[in-house]
Order: sequence, then structure tokens, then C-alpha cells
Amino acid sequence: MKVLVIGATGKTGRAVMDALTARGAEALAAIRNPSPDGVRFDWADRTTWKPALEGADALYIVGPYAQPDADVLLRDLLATATNVRRIVLLSVIGADKLPSIVPMAGWERDVQNSGKEWTILRPNWFQQNFAEGFLPALQNGTLELPAGDAAVSFVDTRDIAEVAAIALTSDGHSGQTYELTGPEALTHTEALEILSKVADRDLRYVPLDPSAHTEAMRAAGAPERTITWQAALFSQIRDGSDATITNTIERLTAHPARTFTAFATEHAPTWQSA
Ligand SMILES: NC(=O)c1ccc[n+]([C@@H]2O[C@H](COP(=O)([O-])OP(=O)(O)OC[C@H]3O[C@@H](n4cnc5c(N)ncnc54)[C@H](OP(=O)(O)O)[C@@H]3O)[C@@H](O)[C@H]2O)c1
Repeated sequence: MKVLVIGATGKTGRAVMDALTARGAEALAAIRNPSPDGVRFDWADRTTWKPALEGADALYIVGPYAQPDADVLLRDLLATATNVRRIVLLSVIGADKLPSIVPMAGWERDVQNSGKEWTILRPNWFQQNFAEGFLPALQNGTLELPAGDAAVSFVDTRDIAEVAAIALTSDGHSGQTYELTGPEALTHTEALEILSKVADRDLRYVPLDPSAHTEAMRAAGAPERTITWQAALFSQIRDGSDATITNTIERLTAHPARTFTAFATEHAPTWQSA
């Protein structure tokens, strides 16, 4: 089984490469910038698609979330991927309840209508955000987000990747949509208390007014589409929907989902060195 991993440099894609290799599958990284570690693939450059898909039996897909034509690109890629038999799509928790400007529900329909064996993953917010996207803010000691005081069952991307690798390399997962969460729901205040403890420094969450967040994104030059999209995701946190806990990771991987404390302990130097 040869699996092409789209988004292989990202938080889930890197872990999917490792999880596939651990299962003895041939994993090929699809990488936007030319690299000796994989084959070139750019959602924005259709000439890269067919050569990258050559010989692939299966696809792990992080969709073209940043492309203005995100709505059509996945459908077009699937039409090109005639040799591919199996697909795992990374979606997002609550995809079917988000406004249509968020393309994940459309992508889910695209894979469902592709005629291929498909599995959809709907993970909650990644634990790894605290070590990557949120890191610049945390280096200054304060994380400001419009997440209110609601809890989120943050999930480790390695658990998402293990589920992806299982669905890509074994039978019995076609036609399934898996909601993937961590084993507990924490508020951002609680999450930062854990980070403060492992890093031995004061890190604080400051709830941001949703309109202030929108204005800050606009001032930073974010496209209106991204602003609306982010507002919807944070609204979903504030209404409590992202506190859901599922046992899917434990059921499929045969080990408990990784805790936020375990993730924080493992990455403690990340926040200490600020
Ligand atoms: N972050 C979360 O908490 C979370 C939770 C649930 C679902 N999701 C979903 O996960 C997806 C990725 O989110 P993220 O921001 O967390 O991702 P990420 O870890 O930053 O990974 C994004 C990946 O996509 C690749 N990529 C970006 N533009 C590309 C292009 N034009 N052509 C080919 N590859 C391209 C990136 O490659 P480069 O290295 O070249 O940039 C990177 O490998 C999104 O669809 C998001 O909705 C995220």
C-alpha cells in the first residue's frame, strides 16, 4: 500500500508519515516547496497533482483551507486521482454545523461522492497548537483568544495520525466519520495552568471579546473569509460544543487518548525557553 500524504509538513501530516511507517506502509510526502524528502504538490498549482499521485493507492488529505477556490479544489483532485482506492480526509469537529464559508462540510461531501473507500476524521482543536501556532503569544506570557470560559477536549495529533494510519491500511473503516477528541475537556485557563506548572513560569489565558478578535484579525490584514471562519470556530467553542469527549481513539488504537498533561510535560522546554 503506497500512501500519498498531503499536508505532510503539518501537525497531523508529520505524525501520519510516522504512523504509516510504523505500520509498514509506504508513505510518500506531498510537499508544497521542492524537497528531497517528498514529491512536489501544491494545491495552487494543478500541474503538480498528477505526477504526485503517480502510483498512489491511498491518500491522506489536509484540504486546501487557505486557497480562495477551496470549494472546488478537492473535488477536482479526486477526479484526477483515478488510481487511488482509499482516502482519509482531515475535517474538523462540528463540520456539519459550521457556516458554509468553512469548506470542510463540502469536502466531506466530495469524498463521500468520490466512489472511493473513504474515512472522515473530525478532530477537536489540537494540543500541538500550544507548541506551534500559539507559541509566539505564549513566549510573551499571555494567550488572548475569544474562547470564553468553555472547555475543549484538546486532542494530540499523534492520536489523530494513528487513527488515520489504521483507516488507510486496514479494512472496516470505509464510510465512517470519526469524531476524535482528547480524554478530558479543559478550559484555556486550565490548559495554561498546566503549561505554567510544567514550564515553571506564569502563562495566562485572557478571554478576548469576539468583536475585538475580529478587529485584530482585520487590522492584521486577514482575509474576510478567514475572519468569518475563525469567528465560527470560536463561537463553537463558547457554546460548549467542543467539550464533547469521544472514546473513538481508544477504541481504534487500543490505547487511551493522550492527555494534555502528558503533551505539556513532554514539550515543557518549548515554553521554558521563551
Ligand atoms: N489546528 C487545529 O487545532 C485544527 C483542529 C481541527 C482541524 N484542523 C484542520 O486541520 C487543517 C490544517 O490545519 P493547521 O493550520 O493546523 O495545519 P498545519 O499543521 O499548519 O498543516 C497544514 C499543511 O498544509 C500544507 N499546505 C498549506 N498550503 C498548501 C498548498 N497550497 N499546497 C500543498 N500543501 C499546503 C502545509 O504545508 P507548508 O509546510 O508548505 O505550509 C502543511 O503541511 C485545516 O483544514 C484545519 O481546519 C485544525
